[in-house]
This record gives sequence, C-alpha cells and structure tokens, in this order.
Amino acid sequence: MNSETITATASGTWKLGDLTVNRVGFGTMRLTQDGAALDPDAVPSDRRRAMAVLRRAVELGVNHLDTASFYFSRLRSANELVNSALAPYPDDLVITTKVGPGRDPHGAWTDAATPAQLRGQVEENLRQLGRDHLDVVNYRRQRAGSIAEHFGALAELRDAGLIRHLGLSNVGAEHLAEAQAIAPVVCVQNRYGLGLATPEADALLHSCGEQGIAFVPFYAIAGTAGEKGTTAAQAAQDSEVRAIAEAHGISAAELRLAWSLHQGPHVLAIPGTGNPAHLEANIAAGALKLPADDLTRLDAVHVAAAAGA
Ligand SMILES: NC(=O)c1ccc[n+]([C@@H]2O[C@H](COP(=O)([O-])OP(=O)(O)OC[C@H]3O[C@@H](n4cnc5c(N)ncnc54)[C@H](OP(=O)(O)O)[C@@H]3O)[C@@H](O)[C@H]2O)c1
Repeated sequence: MNSETITATASGTWKLGDLTVNRVGFGTMRLTQDGAALDPDAVPSDRRRAMAVLRRAVELGVNHLDTASFYFSRLRSANELVNSALAPYPDDLVITTKVGPGRDPHGAWTDAATPAQLRGQVEENLRQLGRDHLDVVNYRRQRAGSIAEHFGALAELRDAGLIRHLGLSNVGAEHLAEAQAIAPVVCVQNRYGLGLATPEADALLHSCGEQGIAFVPFYAIAGTAGEKGTTAAQAAQDSEVRAIAEAHGISAAELRLAWSLHQGPHVLAIPGTGNPAHLEANIAAGALKLPADDLTRLDAVHVAAAAGA
C-alpha cells in the first residue's frame, strides 16, 4: 500500500456494543449486479471484480460490512462473495446482517418473515457467511405496528448465542423505544442523507447519538435515486452541492458521504459500490474535514429539501 493511501482508520472509530469499527465501512448490496440493486433482471456482476473490491476494502482498513442474505442477483450472492473473498475472517471484522424481508429464489419479494421465521433467516446468514454466530443483526421493519414480537424473537436468538448484538432498520423513535425495553440496540440503519430526511429523521439521528447508539444511513450517496444508484442522482445534484464539491476537488458523492459523517461521531458510513475507484474515493471521504461555512451551506440545502419533502 502506498504511504499516501488514506485508510478507513482516518474516519475514526465507534463501538457497536463491545465491537470497535472504523466509521467508514462498506455495504454489499451493489456487489451482486451491475445497475439497479435488487432487480431480479439485473446483469450479474463480475465475480472476480466483486471479490477484489471486498478484499481491497479490508486492505484499506474497512472492518464493518453491511450485508444480507436477500442481497443477490441471478448468479451472485453478497454473503457468498463475502465468505469466498474474506474467510478466514480477520479478527476485527464486524459483519452486520439484516433480517425481516423475504425474497424467493428468483428474487421476487415475498411476505416479510413472521417472528418464528426469523430464526431460519438468521441461520441462512450463518450458513452463507460460514460463521457460528452473527456479530450484529438488524431487524429490518417491513410493516406498520409494533415490532415487539419480531425483536423479542431476535433477543431470544441473542440469548441463545447465535447473535452478539442487535440493531434496527427502517424504524422511528417509537420502534427504538419499544425495542430498547426488550434488549439493547447498538445501531439504527435508516434511509438518510443530504437532502434526504424529514425533521423526524434528523431528530432520530441525534437521539441515537444521545443514547450511544450508532446511526447508519443507507442511500447517503444515492440519495433520492435509492436502489437505482447514482447516475440519476448525480444529474439532479443541487448546484450548491456541486459547487462545494468542485471547490474541494471531489465528487458530489464524496461530499455527500463526508456530510453524513459530520452529523455526529456516532454516524457510520456503509457506502455501496462495485467500482474499485469509488471504493478508494469513499474511504478517502471519511478523512475529509469540512469547514464550518461549507457545513452551514450544506445544512441549508438539507433543511430546504426536507421542508419540500
Ligand atoms: N436497511 C435497508 O433497508 C437498506 C436499504 C438499502 C441499502 N442498505 C445498505 O446500505 C448500503 C448503502 O446503500 P447503497 O449502496 O444503496 O447506496 P449508496 O452507498 O448511497 O450509493 C451507492 C450508489 O452510489 C454509487 N457510488 C458509490 N460510491 C460512489 C462514488 N464515490 N462516486 C460515484 N458514485 C458512487 C454506486 O455505484 P457504483 O457501484 O458504480 O460505484 C451506487 O450506484 C447498501 O450497500 C446496503 O448494504 C440497507
């Protein structure tokens, strides 16, 4: 590694329970296909390139991966790629998975798991990743109403030793409070980014910080383009965002990632990419220190977008 290369350690660290991670991690959802994620008709990715991205991420200090058994395309499974590329796993690697959503073998979405079905989803992740326990499992909420039964089922699996720490995804403050009454929550993974939030979402981010819980945004780069990726998002980038990015000699994607990390020391990044150059850029973005006046301008963009949302 070149001595000039910026690694994920430059982003600082946070603890998920007793597990220390660098704040810039990696999301595996983009590894299994080219183009839009989770599209059953997407073209499967190049396997060697996907494995090389994973190995390079770890080489560059990434020690927090976000994955799921339902991240797959016709020929590639994110968990299988993680296992093949990285096992035997480095001691400090923390793998976070999520359960709740259901996908049939062809990739069509099925009903969300019942509380009793969550054990099967946890075991599926264990088999695919080749592990005896999962470091962090997020319950990914799929429907309105109480999450107590689902989260309670995962708390039992935690007590049984299959899971070390629990988290939540796609939740509001009321779900977090409900879960915390059942078992400790170490992270909240929600859709969040510059110009991609409501006042409630901002409040939850800050509340997580006050409670010592990691806030892990997804679509921090893709923004409103979501699973479609950045092509559309880049074209629609706010002129203020573009101007600030250009002044720093970085892309809007890197700026958006850096802005998310400036929202608090408890905010982690899990940018997804199948592109080795983007991987390096995203890790370097974790080291950026944005000046106060830029943050003020970006916050204004964020607030204006939230008000219009
Ligand atoms: N809990 C949930 O419900 C949920 C939902 C969605 C995602 N997730 C997790 O969150 C992670 C992040 O979400 P995401 O991957 O959808 O979105 P993201 O990280 O916000 O953005 C990924 C998109 O941006 C592009 N990109 C990445 N780095 C870039 C760069 N430096 N310059 C330009 N383009 C760049 C990627 O394309 P290239 O491949 O071309 O770089 C891809 O299209 C996922 O991988 C997944 O692990 C969780």
